[in-house]
Amino acid sequence: MWKCEVVDASGLDVDEVLSVYRASGLAERRPVDDTERFTAMVRGANLVVTARIGDRLVGIARSITDGAYATYLSDIAVDREFQRRGIGVDLIRVTQEAAPRAKVILLSAPAAAEYYPHIGFTQHPSAWVRDALS
Ligand SMILES: CC(C)(COP(=O)(O)OP(=O)(O)OC[C@H]1O[C@@H](n2cnc3c(N)ncnc32)[C@H](O)[C@@H]1OP(=O)(O)O)[C@@H](O)C(=O)NCCC(=O)NCCS
Repeated sequence: MWKCEVVDASGLDVDEVLSVYRASGLAERRPVDDTERFTAMVRGANLVVTARIGDRLVGIARSITDGAYATYLSDIAVDREFQRRGIGVDLIRVTQEAAPRAKVILLSAPAAAEYYPHIGFTQHPSAWVRDALS
């Protein structure tokens, strides 16, 4: 059985996080080859939930939250070997319980577009994105 818990981003092993991004498939959609940027991403989230089986990191959810109104779930990744066992749902549950008054907002990867409605998310008709400056 896995264990999900809120952890401090400053204590994360970036290489270990990277291995879960690669093992989940999310690495294809994130700047994993830019070590400085990836490290800044990992360190910069202020609500991080990890899933471990024993010592092994098998899943992670990284969010930015104000703790009271909005939690932006930036990345969720579960190692392919452990997908479809409920770990993703558990990562989101622990994320939301850390800031229960906040709604959870995210942008879905194409491969996960059917996942979010399945686990209780509703599609927002007026979500807007402005690309990064650099
Ligand atoms: C998307 C992801 C986080 C889901 O995690 P998971 O631990 O496999 O999902 P869960 O076990 O919590 O799934 C819960 C339910 O959703 C279903 N489900 C899981 N992935 C799904 C998908 N991609 N599409 C549709 N349904 C999915 C499961 O079958 C399960 O259904 P059930 O409750 O009827 O049995 C994981 O597949 C992943 O890491 N994918 C690659 C990275 C990615 O795309 N991340 C999302 C970026 S927005």
